[in-house]
Amino acid sequence: MDGVFETDLGLPGRRRGKVRDVYDAPPGTDGSPRLLVVATDRISAFDVVMPTPIPGKGRILTDISLRWFSWLERQGIVDGHVLGADTGAIPGLTVVDRAMLAGRAMLVRRCRVVPIECVVRGYLEGSGWSEYQRSGAVCGVPLPSGLRRGDRLPEPIFTPATKEEAGKHDENITFDRASAIAGGATMEFLRRASVAVYRAAHAYALERGVILADTKFEFGFPLDRDGRDAADRPILVDEVLTPDSSRYWPADRWMPGAEQESFDKQYLREWLNTLVSRGLWNKQAPGPALPAHVVAGTAARYEEARRRLFG
Ligand SMILES: Nc1ncnc2c1ncn2[C@@H]1O[C@H](COP(=O)(O)OP(=O)(O)OP(=O)(O)O)[C@@H](O)[C@H]1O
Ligand SMILES: [Mg+2]
Repeated sequence: MDGVFETDLGLPGRRRGKVRDVYDAPPGTDGSPRLLVVATDRISAFDVVMPTPIPGKGRILTDISLRWFSWLERQGIVDGHVLGADTGAIPGLTVVDRAMLAGRAMLVRRCRVVPIECVVRGYLEGSGWSEYQRSGAVCGVPLPSGLRRGDRLPEPIFTPATKEEAGKHDENITFDRASAIAGGATMEFLRRASVAVYRAAHAYALERGVILADTKFEFGFPLDRDGRDAADRPILVDEVLTPDSSRYWPADRWMPGAEQESFDKQYLREWLNTLVSRGLWNKQAPGPALPAHVVAGTAARYEEARRRLFG
């Protein structure tokens, strides 16, 4: 299996993110704009897209996202942008396109995306752990002293980051800074919604033997036919609670004080770090080609996350 590295559909408005290719889809019956979001098999680490795809990853991410979106809506926790996963009503696609898209495409409401990454951390890892070691706080949120790497926090914390354009790294910022960028009322809403989603998803995952250590959300205001905000409340966009946007750890192996085993891209990051320490890569584009065992190991971890979470 080769994997889908990039797509070239006969639809207007293509833009490429690191992982998703996004196209304009025909508007809804009320004229509201829609997008087709296609999860490719690309994988990025340290904000660099790897040249080797992980075959099947886009389908796993789409499946996990769709299940979480519908679970979150059923629980009444937050509304999402998903309208459906069926591309049958979209004209201009070939038979080959439709086969490629099956299971990796979502039809969504087009939104004005809030330019803040809404990160929630329930455990101390990654940039949160780095900041904590330097300052005893994360994004201006003070934490108790003496915490170890991988420790559970007394309460989940909201630690926003900027959404930087391609090539730049997202940067952790304080809540006040995020409010200056996106508006105080919007950020209050996003903090409450993000923490509520994290708490609910953490509990759901833990019942299935998985720790949701942290995760990142994106929100946006749905647009109307004239490109204006159709609602005064943001909804959840992009992907949600996937192994690309979250740290998932096997609960029975959790051992604070060191790096945790994981069902996410930490496995790839660790392999890349061995290249960095041998002077073979500098964390800049282009990324190194991934050997078959790293591709297979990554795919197996993503699949295991899906299996444990949704059977
Ligand atoms: N409903 C939506 N309306 C408008 N834009 C959306 C919507 N859902 C997702 N997007 C955008 O589509 C893109 C998806 O691509 P991808 O997730 O690969 O991007 P990325 O490289 O991670 O960059 P970003 O940091 O912007 O997410 C993102 O820019 C995301 O903000
Ligand atoms: Mg994204």
